[in-house]
Amino acid sequence: MLKKARIAVLVSGGGTNLQALLDAQRSGALAHGEIVLTVSSRPGVYALERAERAGVPGFVLPAEDGEAALEELLARFEIDFIILAGFLRILSPAFTARWPRRILNIHPSLIPSFCGKGMYGLRVHEAALARGVKVTGATVHFVNEIPDGGEILLQKAVEVLPGDTPETLQRRVMEQAEWLLLPQAAEQLSRAVAQEV
Ligand code: GAR
Repeated sequence: MLKKARIAVLVSGGGTNLQALLDAQRSGALAHGEIVLTVSSRPGVYALERAERAGVPGFVLPAEDGEAALEELLARFEIDFIILAGFLRILSPAFTARWPRRILNIHPSLIPSFCGKGMYGLRVHEAALARGVKVTGATVHFVNEIPDGGEILLQKAVEVLPGDTPETLQRRVMEQAEWLLLPQAAEQLSRAVAQEV
């Protein structure tokens, strides 16, 4: 029997990327991995409802000492790798060093544009529009000690259209790039990890 990689998804908000992963799991596109844990940095977010509906256990990190609680959950659920899906806390260098090439992040631009500390969510699209770029996109990368600085796994370009607002651009980047790339990257890493275990 195939041993599937055990995945934790870390969230902070609406959880549409978590949903894309859950949908991939249900459709069989995520064949070598299984989402077994969801952890939120904030209480009451819609992502936790999505997890509950899919039967995946969900937890909220305490405001203080969040990484100790996170480590405890990752150990308890025997997690093989972590996906940051709109997770808005920066993980410490000590934490990322313990998970080399075992943390994926989705970022809503073509890294190295519009990324780094303080660049998240709508801010990224506001910055892209302010700069006047005609093409943006999304990136999935490994997480290391540098915010948005780890090795790039997948990227997809998305057109900026005349009249775009940060909201319309965010939606197009999600639909045309993020929700496709993240499940693809999750399956890629699951396949690699499942071969090891
Ligand atoms: C997504 O657009 C994700 O790429 C972005 O936050 C949004 C979360 O949406 N992440 C970052 O900006 C990280 N720097 P979601 O909760 O609906 O998946």
